[in-house]
Amino acid sequence: MNNAIIIGATSGIGRELALILAGNGYRVGITGRRAEKLKELKECNPEKFVISAFDCTRERNSEKLAELTKALGGLDLLVLSAGTGDINESLDFDIENNTNQLNVVAFTEIVDWAFRYFEKQRKGHLVGISSIAGIRGNRIAPAYNASKAYQLNYLEGLRYKAAKTGKPIFVTDIRPGFVDTDMAKGEGKFWVASKEKAALQIFGSIKKRKDVGYVTRRWRLVAMVLKWLPGWIYKKM
Ligand SMILES: NC(=O)c1ccc[n+]([C@@H]2O[C@H](COP(=O)([O-])OP(=O)(O)OC[C@H]3O[C@@H](n4cnc5c(N)ncnc54)[C@H](OP(=O)(O)O)[C@@H]3O)[C@@H](O)[C@H]2O)c1
Repeated sequence: MNNAIIIGATSGIGRELALILAGNGYRVGITGRRAEKLKELKECNPEKFVISAFDCTRERNSEKLAELTKALGGLDLLVLSAGTGDINESLDFDIENNTNQLNVVAFTEIVDWAFRYFEKQRKGHLVGISSIAGIRGNRIAPAYNASKAYQLNYLEGLRYKAAKTGKPIFVTDIRPGFVDTDMAKGEGKFWVASKEKAALQIFGSIKKRKDVGYVTRRWRLVAMVLKWLPGWIYKKM
């Protein structure tokens, strides 16, 4: 049986993906701060889930991940879904700092731990859930978009590093558009995918060991347009 860890499995995309992995031969280590949500999830399929409740911004993630991996009996796949971000028009530093502590600082500790673990065992698959938001800056949630830009760039770096090892180590960057979860904030949302559909498409990208997966797939087009849109037009939006 394959072993996976999902960081951020108490709700949203991470929870749906945990259910899919458990139904497809994985034993899954599930994490998040809300222990009661993890217990509820474990009750769906007690043999398949191992719980570890912790806050990625307050604990040493490397220690928590090593303990959870030991409890699972190994690790083949790590999915980092935990993320945060808030609208912050007044540029309140606490809001920006909160976003950066999880999306940048904890993210770096977690993906680096996973990479080193997979390098040592000479195989493995790391998946980060970044966002289409990482492609351009945003005036109402600057830290969210900037932290997602960091994530997609960092994952690209790790992918090239993995290729240099010559070992079967894969790094997948999942870039969702809008998904119907608590994270989908603000107005003017469109092409909003259900959590179930998003998680199924992410599972497809994992099976294909894709470098980059857009969720849903049509967001690839938006990504291309966003990337090349001149600043003078973007400024007016
Ligand atoms: N929904 C969208 O439209 C959308 C679009 C693009 C990208 N994304 C990305 O998708 C990922 C998953 O988000 P989602 O939409 O599924 O939202 P969600 O339902 O709010 O899930 C976020 C997960 O992160 C965990 N988390 C948050 N802060 C944490 C912390 N300090 N320590 C540990 N875990 C923490 C939450 O668990 P606890 O609260 O229990 O700790 C929860 O399980 C995020 O990285 C998000 O940026 C979402």
